Amino acid sequence: MIVGSDLARARLVSRSVDVIRTHQSPSGAYPASPAFSAYRGYAWLRDGAFIAEGMSRTGSADEVTAFHAWCARVIAARAAQVDDLVRRAAHGEPVANAEMLPTRFTLDGGEGSDEWWDHQLDGYGTWMWALAEHTARHGVAVPGAARAVRVAARYLSWFWDRPCYDWWEEHVDQRHVSTLAAIHAGLRAALASGHLDATDERAAREAVDGIAALVASDGVAAGGHLRKWLATPGSSLGAGPTATFHAESDPRLGGDAVDASLLACVHPFGLYPVDHPVAVATVAEVERQLARDGGVHRFLADTFYGGGRWVLLAGFLGLNHAAAGRREEALRYLDWMGGQATGEGELPEQVSDVLLAPGRFDEWLRRWGPVASPLLWSHGMYLMLADALEVRA
Ligand code: BGC
Repeated sequence: MIVGSDLARARLVSRSVDVIRTHQSPSGAYPASPAFSAYRGYAWLRDGAFIAEGMSRTGSADEVTAFHAWCARVIAARAAQVDDLVRRAAHGEPVANAEMLPTRFTLDGGEGSDEWWDHQLDGYGTWMWALAEHTARHGVAVPGAARAVRVAARYLSWFWDRPCYDWWEEHVDQRHVSTLAAIHAGLRAALASGHLDATDERAAREAVDGIAALVASDGVAAGGHLRKWLATPGSSLGAGPTATFHAESDPRLGGDAVDASLLACVHPFGLYPVDHPVAVATVAEVERQLARDGGVHRFLADTFYGGGRWVLLAGFLGLNHAAAGRREEALRYLDWMGGQATGEGELPEQVSDVLLAPGRFDEWLRRWGPVASPLLWSHGMYLMLADALEVRA
């Protein structure tokens, strides 16, 4: 079948729905990648929220509601932990990263016994954003959502300006602009949900305003586009100095460096509207630095599996072109994504034909085996972009 034909696109939409549906756990959770050694048995809020958004757009309302209900149970179960963290932070007591909420969960909502790069804040915001999109689109009520939104909003309102690992589970000593945008979108959704009481509402509003002001002052590079992380380091009240190297000394990370996750700050998170000069400059700079022939690298210093091109990031770039009215450009990214499908119609996490650091591929192959495939988030992004382009099964 010819990649780029209407038939090929429609088939991959339908195959993506199948892949996601097949692997959704009876609990409601979406595993990140069912067979990949390091992800097997775990669900991330970040991946899951985008997978759910893709599925919600295809009309799979009940399955997506089950996913959100699972998230709501998992988050509400940690209400006492959040209350305790907030109480200690209010008294100025240090809180270590290991005490914060987890980044990923086992499919039954536990924490598992494998070490991971906790903590990350973005998933809690991305979840509230995706929940709001789904409930508005389908007019459904998600069981337990009100309580979980209160817990997640409280957590983020208190801790939004604390450094944490980014989307790629790196650089715990920094405040990442795409993480802040996810929190901003999530708290806006929480405010609009009507689930917050007056105190929590005030705190969420302050956080939303604080994020916008901080990104505007410290998150925009000299070139007028967003930076990978804020120019000013934050303090994480007792978190140890776990960063592995001093990033500002690597020009591919500090200063004007971008990260492809910044695309989400424009669309879908809307920290900057599509036609704002910062948004325009950010999308253009990510494309200039990181896109190669339809595929998109994470950031220039990436060494994970040698730093290949990520299928899901082509989805974010395509979505931004679509949101700005550049349909042909968006289709080009959709078709590049489609071209990476295996013979079974499965989309991997990344492809390894164009590597930023070819000498670093083998160490990951030895450590974790072949690149994750299928990656459900890649399929979720295919569904989101296909829907934006009105490509249907
Ligand atoms: C990526 C994360 C992702 C996780 C599960 C990691 O390698 O850095 O962004 O959430 O895999 O897909």
